[in-house]
Amino acid sequence: MVTKSYRDSYERSLEQPEGFWLEAANKVSWSSPPAKALDSGRAPLYDWFPDGLLNTSFNALDRHVLAGRGEQDALIYDSAMLGEQRRFSYSELTDLVSRFAGVLRAQGVGKGDRVVIYMPMIPEAVIAMLATARLGAVHSVVFGGFAPKELAARIRDAEPAAVVTASGGIEPSRRVEYLPAVNEALDLAGAADLPVLVKHRAGFSASAPDGWLDWDAEMAGAVPAAPVDVSATDPLYILYTSGTTGAPKGVVRDNGGHAVALAWTMENIYDVGPGDVMWTASDVGWVVGHSYIVYGPLLAGAATVLYEGKPVGTPDAGAFWRVIQDHQVNVLFTAPTALRAIRKADPEAKLLAGYDISSLRTLFAAGERLDTDTYHWAANTLGVPVVDHWWQTETGWAISANPRGLEPLPIKAGSPTVPMPGFDLRIVDGAGEDVSGAEEGNIVLGLPLPPGTLTTLWRDDERYISSYLQAFEGHYATGDSGYRDADGYLFVMGRTDDIINVAGHRLSTGSMEQVIGQHPAVAECAVIGVSDPLKGQHASGYVVLKAGVEVADAVLAQELIALVRRDIGPVADFKNVTVVDALPKTRSGKILRKTMRQIADGEGFVVPSTIEDSGVIDRLMAVLRPGTGNPSQGREDG
Ligand code: COA
Ligand code: AMP
Repeated sequence: MVTKSYRDSYERSLEQPEGFWLEAANKVSWSSPPAKALDSGRAPLYDWFPDGLLNTSFNALDRHVLAGRGEQDALIYDSAMLGEQRRFSYSELTDLVSRFAGVLRAQGVGKGDRVVIYMPMIPEAVIAMLATARLGAVHSVVFGGFAPKELAARIRDAEPAAVVTASGGIEPSRRVEYLPAVNEALDLAGAADLPVLVKHRAGFSASAPDGWLDWDAEMAGAVPAAPVDVSATDPLYILYTSGTTGAPKGVVRDNGGHAVALAWTMENIYDVGPGDVMWTASDVGWVVGHSYIVYGPLLAGAATVLYEGKPVGTPDAGAFWRVIQDHQVNVLFTAPTALRAIRKADPEAKLLAGYDISSLRTLFAAGERLDTDTYHWAANTLGVPVVDHWWQTETGWAISANPRGLEPLPIKAGSPTVPMPGFDLRIVDGAGEDVSGAEEGNIVLGLPLPPGTLTTLWRDDERYISSYLQAFEGHYATGDSGYRDADGYLFVMGRTDDIINVAGHRLSTGSMEQVIGQHPAVAECAVIGVSDPLKGQHASGYVVLKAGVEVADAVLAQELIALVRRDIGPVADFKNVTVVDALPKTRSGKILRKTMRQIADGEGFVVPSTIEDSGVIDRLMAVLRPGTGNPSQGREDG
């Protein structure tokens, strides 16, 4: 049955998941096609396409060469930082990936082994990912803005057989040397004897320790490796993401479900096919980069743009328009924060007049809520549909979107539109009961989740179940709250836990609190996400000093900021510290972070009846909102 409307597809995906997903699986090349879509034998853990065999790198590369598209662009590298552009055809990319797979194999990497990739936005990052997949090994890419300690935590957990890195990354304000960071991380993780492959870049001063291998030298003598068949259920990658406790969670993605789901999204959500050009302005270190810089466009036989630069200042706020023009980009995907940065620098988009962006068909946004102001600005400026869609590292693709390829639905500002096939979305109260009408509640997803979503957390099924599957029986808890309007459109309002989103980067306030709590002057602290006009949110820390400690507030603030930068990394963007005499708490000792956030954001709030000492609220108000009252300040009954 061919279903070409959204409603039909959605209903069929939930009512007949076998038929729906087996049909979608036809878009993928299998060494042995699956006869069955879903295996529920291990519920609440699920396996998609349990009897299928494939190789993801073959699907992303060789398949298109065999289909006669070897000369077509696969990867377009554009570095605004270096003023450099390079294009790789499908044939060239297949050759480079095969040879780097040979390099990894020569270092002992085989099926199921992990490879940690800590790289800036250069083609070798994509090559390393696809080469790992070619061997049936499992990559774990770590974003370059994370500090050595975070990298070490991921190395410790993933236990890789090799590490791939480069001399460094280029930020507008500085060169970020990676080699000392990798060296320190390996020491911290007790893994100093691992093979390390380094792509050397000009302009970096740190040299590689003895024994580390040079990418170019190894590639020169490499024996190309053929794709290794893996089971659809074998892991393709681990991607660590912030959880509500300090330890990052290793989200595991399989090979088969991932390939099927991403191929489905390319056609039905993004409307991108062979020969099209997709540019996802993110980083390969994030899920958006995994899915839509690397795998999605290549599985679809499209060309993907890998952009090393920022939306503004490289050289100006016309950077995005220049890239669209130079590479005839058809579909752009970016984070709202990038659009806000461009708008702030060039509110009337005057720079746009200097470029021809007529190739652009659609702009997709995700990573945080696309606020209505930014939506209207982007839609008016670009004159193309601007499509918000909502997803998470865990899901790997959009839970809710406007399926432009399947059936373009009317766009409503502020809504990532409707649930995608396979996501049985409900909005429930704390007891798991459906909320009525357009009331806000917890967004949960009925099990099983569709193909391409996380299968578990790396070597920790128990943590997967306790973190996501226990709060609401039979459902996956997204950690986001939201509501649906009368037309069924979804509105996602924000997290219900301590995860915050700073400039499209997902961070845990809990892990920042852990770092701050180590300072000898700090008795206790709370870190909350406060609204930020550019970055969506920023982290703000509130600290209480130990009795008798004397330290100037400004000195302490500098020390805490440096500590977070050292232990988590610059990406935390932690720059605000306020010393307070006490934190508001419940009688059971729980810090009232939500109330603090409401005070800091200037919202009305209700003082919970369980508060230990309501005087703290008045003193906090005096610090955070001097001279203002709280119109709706009140007290809960009881
Ligand atoms: N390596 C090292 N440091 C990095 C880094 C990396 N890969 N990425 C960011 N940083 C550093 C920045 O240099 C900055 O350091 P500073 O405190 O010394 O200035 C700090 O981390 C904070 O960076 P960021 O929050 O990115 O701020 P910014 O001012 O550099 O840029 C934006 C702001 C909005 C332009 C930028 O964050 C952006 O383009 N965001 C889009 C994010 C995105 O694509 N998310 C993926 C989901 S779609
Ligand atoms: P990440 O795992 O980094 O992709 O972050 C996922 C979280 O970012 C989600 O749980 C949401 O809180 C938020 N998010 C991502 N996309 C959107 C969106 N389109 N609208 C609202 N929130 C979003």
